Amino acid sequence: MTGSNIKRQRHSESTILVTGGTGYIGSHTVVALMQEGYCPVIVDNLSNSKISVLKRIGGITGREPTFYKADLLNTKALNKIFQRHRISSVIHFAGLKAVGESVLHPLQYYRNNIEGSLSLFSVMSENDVKKIIFSSSASIYGQAAVIPIAENCPPAPTNPYARSKFIIEQILNDIHRADPQWEVVILRYFNPVGAHQSGLIGEDPQGIPNNLMPYISQVAVGRRKKLQIFGNDYPTSDGTGVRDYIHVMDLAEGHVAALRKIEKKQSSRKKKMPLMINLGTGRGCTVMEMVQAFEKVSGKKIPYSVTKRRAGDIAACYADVTYAKKILKWKTKRSIEDMCCDAWRWQSENPQGY
Ligand code: NAD
Ligand code: UFG
Repeated sequence: MTGSNIKRQRHSESTILVTGGTGYIGSHTVVALMQEGYCPVIVDNLSNSKISVLKRIGGITGREPTFYKADLLNTKALNKIFQRHRISSVIHFAGLKAVGESVLHPLQYYRNNIEGSLSLFSVMSENDVKKIIFSSSASIYGQAAVIPIAENCPPAPTNPYARSKFIIEQILNDIHRADPQWEVVILRYFNPVGAHQSGLIGEDPQGIPNNLMPYISQVAVGRRKKLQIFGNDYPTSDGTGVRDYIHVMDLAEGHVAALRKIEKKQSSRKKKMPLMINLGTGRGCTVMEMVQAFEKVSGKKIPYSVTKRRAGDIAACYADVTYAKKILKWKTKRSIEDMCCDAWRWQSENPQGY
């Protein structure tokens, strides 16, 4: 998609504040927003992303988005940004996200994720901005008793990261209860993978990747020797773990659908807020299936060894997406092959990331 394809007119009034907009999911969502004619303003402290993302976004959309380097905990800096722009809605991605790290450094996670969110919500309130889409996670369900997981599955977070997400969800519920004018959409992501099809932006983890897809990509490109498969004795089709992998551009488009919903004036809808919505494909895929799909699209052999189960892992997790389809009129379009193909294009064209 080039700059000329951007529908600048349709939402020319809508300035959307995107916290964490230089990060993995945020940058892809910024592209989707710009392509729909929204005007994103990014706030990010660059603790887990690079400034060069902005140029790459410009390469795809024809224009670099407005960017402020600021920490969400800096309420004063945030206030200035809200005073400078007429923000209509906020998409709140900024946060720390590594489960293992959160177990080791809970205070850091609670401080950054919860205090950062409180600072943001206070500034929104002061500036009369009351529409928000929040990045939550399927990890809040913990070990769900029933699969596929529907939104009414009782939350049972098992680590500080997931608990920080659940606490922020509850804070947003309370804010809406106190002032029903707030329009809140909580999106619970399953496993986002892949990259923009241009190969210009993608996932660029610092250090050794924790997650499956970036690890496979780095093995394929020669940065790592072999993949370790964490257990093949689960009660699944081939014994390896099952997850609901969702293409990051499908996820980005899910945010655009949620934004359309809250930007539309429709008072009757407010009663149903906050909306809690799963974003996934509704299909599970095993680790072995993912490895095979990646080998097929990349033409590279992925050496692996099977090791013991990773502590805290569950056998299978995938979403019931009935509600997302109904409420957002959105569903995923991209296959596992698309996810692997786009991840491989990004990794092979940017072997060391940004
Ligand atoms: P990411 O780390 O790539 O992006 C998060 C961005 O937030 C980074 O650019 C970081 O610099 C910024 N940030 C962090 N703390 C900040 C602060 N206090 N002030 C300003 N900026 C700050 O992560 P991502 O994968 O793009 O995830 C985005 C959101 O989605 C996160 O909230 C994450 O918890 C959630 N989520 C991610 C996944 C996943 O697997 N990637 C799954 C479920 C939910
Ligand atoms: N896996 C391996 N080897 C690896 C990495 C992962 O075999 O090197 C396996 C895991 O055991 C699991 C599957 O690949 O069976 C997926 O693991 P990921 O680490 O990619 O993803 P998780 O489902 O464990 O967790 C991710 C994020 C969480 C988020 C959750 C749901 O890390 O933050 O998805 O959205 F909450």
